[in-house]
Amino acid sequence: MFTILVLHGPNLNLLGEREPAIYGSLTLDEINAAITAEAKRLAVTVENHQSNHEGLLIDLIHEKRKCVDAILINPGAYTHYSYAIRDALAAVGLPVVEVHLSDIHKRESFRRHSVISDVCLSQISGKGLNSYLEGLHLLVDYLRKKR
Ligand code: DQA
Repeated sequence: MFTILVLHGPNLNLLGEREPAIYGSLTLDEINAAITAEAKRLAVTVENHQSNHEGLLIDLIHEKRKCVDAILINPGAYTHYSYAIRDALAAVGLPVVEVHLSDIHKRESFRRHSVISDVCLSQISGKGLNSYLEGLHLLVDYLRKKR
């Protein structure tokens, strides 16, 4: 059975109360529950983690690299400037999909650029919870085709 590491970056712990007009009203627990339920339907396992710290996200990418098959990541604001997270993802060589709740291409100019996307199979943005669910499907399809 495939295992997918789901990483949520900074400030996503406040989902539900954080700028709901932009990020929606679902809490992180509700998002994780929906991802886990979809994973069950797809017969894969997910491991969900959130951190507000760049180094902790990098440590997780390193630690989990041998026990997961792919990574689904919403890097939060690190998307736009963390070469360190980008390098960690490149270093482990796992298939990665980058997701965003909001449409980063229709917001402030600093959000329109991702330093992560070139090491990802795909970037899915602006679909709320469905960004995560679509990303999960994409990774599972990719892993099943590769096998
Ligand atoms: C985000 C978009 C980022 O620009 C922002 O910093 C976030 C959330 C999103 O999911 O829409 O924290 O990644």
